[in-house]
Amino acid sequence: MRAIVWHGKNSLSVDNVPDPVIQEPTDAIIQITSTAICGSDLHLYDGYMMGMEKGDVLGHEPMGIVIETGSAVTNLQKGDRVVVPFNIACGQCFFCQKQLYSCCETTNPDHEKAAKMMGHAPAGLFGYSHLTGGYPGGQAEFLRVPHADFGPIKIESDLPDEKVLFLSDIFPTGWMAAENADIEPGDTVAIWGCGPVAQMCIQSAWMLGAGRVIAIDRVPERLAMAQKFGRAETINFAEVDEVYDVLNEMTQGRGPDRCIDAVGAEAHETGGADAVLDKVKAMTMLGTDRAHALRQALYCCRKGGTVSVPGVYVGMVDKFPMGGTMNKGLTIKTGQTHTQRYTRPLLQKIEAGEIDPSFVITHIRPLEEGPALYKTFRDKEDGCIKVVLKP
Ligand SMILES: NC(=O)c1ccc[n+]([C@@H]2O[C@H](COP(=O)([O-])OP(=O)(O)OC[C@H]3O[C@@H](n4cnc5c(N)ncnc54)[C@H](O)[C@@H]3O)[C@@H](O)[C@H]2O)c1
Ligand SMILES: [Zn+2]
Ligand SMILES: [Zn+2]
Repeated sequence: MRAIVWHGKNSLSVDNVPDPVIQEPTDAIIQITSTAICGSDLHLYDGYMMGMEKGDVLGHEPMGIVIETGSAVTNLQKGDRVVVPFNIACGQCFFCQKQLYSCCETTNPDHEKAAKMMGHAPAGLFGYSHLTGGYPGGQAEFLRVPHADFGPIKIESDLPDEKVLFLSDIFPTGWMAAENADIEPGDTVAIWGCGPVAQMCIQSAWMLGAGRVIAIDRVPERLAMAQKFGRAETINFAEVDEVYDVLNEMTQGRGPDRCIDAVGAEAHETGGADAVLDKVKAMTMLGTDRAHALRQALYCCRKGGTVSVPGVYVGMVDKFPMGGTMNKGLTIKTGQTHTQRYTRPLLQKIEAGEIDPSFVITHIRPLEEGPALYKTFRDKEDGCIKVVLKP
């Protein structure tokens, strides 16, 4: 089959690789009909994620048609149309019983390596590092889906792929980020980033009762999308002296009640000393994370507020403002999304017409154009906000 293969930093190609086969009775094989590129994929493309190996197949936002099932899969049949969550969960272990699916303790065969780094290992992920299982991903013609008996969500209506595809990741991620922000009715929610995840955070913040949403980025078309589809007020961080001052002015000097960091480890510098130092450290491999947006969110958040962090971080973050966090009484919540917890209720919202997540899509292209589109997406060229590939 054809698949997007990682060869190293900034080096991807569409190669012929072996077709996946059923390995466990709980597996299914799906033929991919649509598959997206995510900001998390950029951490692999840009070479910041540890544990990648030459030949890894990328992609974790897929959907398609079931073509084969293992003997223990009774919930799916050949021909079913499914969306596949980006994390792999067994549905039965200690963590899955608590609906902490991204913490599943049975699906990461490389758990010892990850535990050494993080204390305890996260669940397996499709198309990601060998710290999370090294599972071949879904930017391919076919995908082996472990725990197909639990994870995939069947799409029984005739909604087009574009409307349901993002149940695989970014819609649940935006929703969980807003839920983690502890939004109370009427709260002011500030969101760092206007990428695809942030756009889903904006939509979710309104649905969870925000009174005001302020979105921060520097890419004009992303800010425009946050205004038009997200009805958000916006701040272009490249055009203001201090985001902090602007947010304070907008909130009677208190700061936003709830702050969401939807940027993660690859924040762009805004001239702050911390951002310059992060950049040098990342370039010289002395550090992995450029945590400027996170520090700014903690600094700007009002006393007693919540900072929710869907943005992905990789390793150690220094210059972490623990003094301010402690003295202001902030709550921080974060995590890889427990996707399976949200797929059903969020599908219902799509079916009921409460939201159509396809508004973020700017590019629908053949799989073969994938490697070039990684660059287009990363460099924000051609108005690119979200890419969907068709194998
Ligand atoms: N928690 C999860 O399970 C989960 C799932 C999906 C994605 N993510 C993560 O969410 C993050 C966003 O993903 P995405 O697909 O939207 O990526 P993206 O790269 O398209 O978006 C990031 C946005 O942040 C903006 N930005 C950069 N520096 C900034 C700063 N200092 N202040 C404000 N904005 C800034 C960029 O201009 C860009 O628009 C990534 O870190 C990704 O890995 C997490
Ligand atoms: Zn993703
Ligand atoms: Zn589990």
